[in-house]
Amino acid sequence: MTDFDAAQFRELCGRFATGVVIVTTLDSSGAAAGMTANSFTSVSLDPPLISLNIDRTAEFHRAIEAATTFTVNVLGADQEALSRRFAQAPGPERFSGIGYRRTETGRILLTGAIATIDCETFQRFPVGDHTVVIGRVVGGEAHDGRPLLYFRGGYHNLS
Ligand SMILES: Cc1cc2nc3c(=O)[nH]c(=O)nc-3n(C[C@H](O)[C@H](O)[C@H](O)COP(=O)(O)O)c2cc1C
Repeated sequence: MTDFDAAQFRELCGRFATGVVIVTTLDSSGAAAGMTANSFTSVSLDPPLISLNIDRTAEFHRAIEAATTFTVNVLGADQEALSRRFAQAPGPERFSGIGYRRTETGRILLTGAIATIDCETFQRFPVGDHTVVIGRVVGGEAHDGRPLLYFRGGYHNLS
């Protein structure tokens, strides 16, 4: 197999602008867990499926690996700090002092997200050093607002 330089891989893939999401679920102890991701994409309309790629070394991987449901919170333009927090802060500290709501069905919905997409885990399979998680969309809410964007390793807004 041909080796390819990791920095060049990032350089190439970083040219693809994305939105930013925080995936939330409950861990095995019932505590809220969440992680910043930009690997979100829609996969299928019928049935309605989305995908996320989760690093197997991430702490959050343990939670998503066991989760039967999760929510994709699409971040708004003013939520860069939240994106950084859910990528860098230790897991247990991520939810302290931020706005979120835990629903009766165990959904964790972040205040200010421009969309919350409720999923049931449909499929999971290992690919390379990540796990591809396929979610079946079972509900959600869309709100007005502009998106947070990610491009070449930095945050941007629509101008
Ligand atoms: C903008 C952005 C997008 C990211 N996208 C992903 C992703 O799609 N998949 C992933 O596994 N990690 C992604 N990460 C990295 C994770 O957020 C980070 O490794 C994780 O939160 C580490 O914490 P944990 O080990 O406590 O889960 C992204 C980070 C940032 C800042």
